[in-house]
Amino acid sequence: MNNRANKNVLKIKPYVPGKPIDEVKRELGLKRVVKLASNENPYPPSPAVLKAVREAGRNLNRYPDGSCFELRQELSRRLKVDPRQLVFGCGSDEVIVLALRAFINPGDEVVMAVPSFLVYSLASTLAGARCIQIPLKGLRYDMSAMKKAVTARTKIVFIGNPDNPSGQFPDKAEVDSFLRGLAQDVLVFFDEAYYEFAAAEKNYVQTLDLLRSRGNVIVARTFSKLFGLAGLRIGYGVASLEVAALMDRVREPFNVTSVAQAAALAALKDRVYYDRILKELNTERSRLCAQLRSFSAQGVEVSKGCTNFIQIRTSKDSRELSAALLKKGIIVRDMSAWGLSNYIRVTIGKPSENRLFLKAFAAAI
Ligand SMILES: Cc1ncc(COP(=O)(O)O)c(C=O)c1O
Repeated sequence: MNNRANKNVLKIKPYVPGKPIDEVKRELGLKRVVKLASNENPYPPSPAVLKAVREAGRNLNRYPDGSCFELRQELSRRLKVDPRQLVFGCGSDEVIVLALRAFINPGDEVVMAVPSFLVYSLASTLAGARCIQIPLKGLRYDMSAMKKAVTARTKIVFIGNPDNPSGQFPDKAEVDSFLRGLAQDVLVFFDEAYYEFAAAEKNYVQTLDLLRSRGNVIVARTFSKLFGLAGLRIGYGVASLEVAALMDRVREPFNVTSVAQAAALAALKDRVYYDRILKELNTERSRLCAQLRSFSAQGVEVSKGCTNFIQIRTSKDSRELSAALLKKGIIVRDMSAWGLSNYIRVTIGKPSENRLFLKAFAAAI
């Protein structure tokens, strides 16, 4: 049936997610497996969130509220935006897809960095867009090259703020100069899946402020990372009223489950728990980075970043290194699919998990 398929489907290489823990246990006959491959939160949701999930479970016979009313009201208050400016998705992945579905006609162009979050190119290609991919410069966005790549055919520019796998963000001056003089009808999509980890960084752009004066900004955030709800799949976009209405029009009517809505609402209200987790993960990241730097004589470099993952460059081939770690029950991300054949990406885990990783890493290199 290949020749019957949508031609854009044949253009993409399927996304390969990090291996699930149970699969690795089964395949390698291991009892203990640590997954540090998908930038998940190693901690479970807060007790208040678990309670909300149990309560929402009683109404699973009903379809969810397609408008996410309560969550919409709560977020609109917190973010100081009109409730109609919010668009909810099955993860922020779906918010990316909704923007493309609403705006791309065949042959339109989408500008993005490379390497960058793979969903930008996969979803853009599927939507019929031409991907204009601008190489990173020293693992950072080359914002002036990205601006030069914008043409009359450009509909969307994707900016990972911060991005995955680089873990970095374009600073305020770079974003300001990128936006200066940019056509008002080119959408600038700031993907802020890791917002909470980066928000306090110096020179980090507060994109919701940009959105107040610019109709062409979309900001996407998620409950998958700091809020630890990756398994429930819920994220949201914030855009101008006009853009949000178009994205909402192409959304499946019940794309966000009732359990996900209840969990997200409870998570937003439990600041104490999530502030503590944020602090713990940040402390762990600093500790892990410092320990990894002690391997610099063996050619190990840790890239700067402000997310719940780090990128590590070694003198070893990343496929070999990640396979060696896997044998010890540690799942990390081999970055060769991103063209980074000496890099692995490692999610910050609990202290005990990070210790196991370090031990296996030391042995492998
Ligand atoms: C940069 C970036 N954007 C978006 C996502 C998607 O997250 P979700 O669909 O779980 O909200 C991820 C997930 O890893 C990511 O790294």
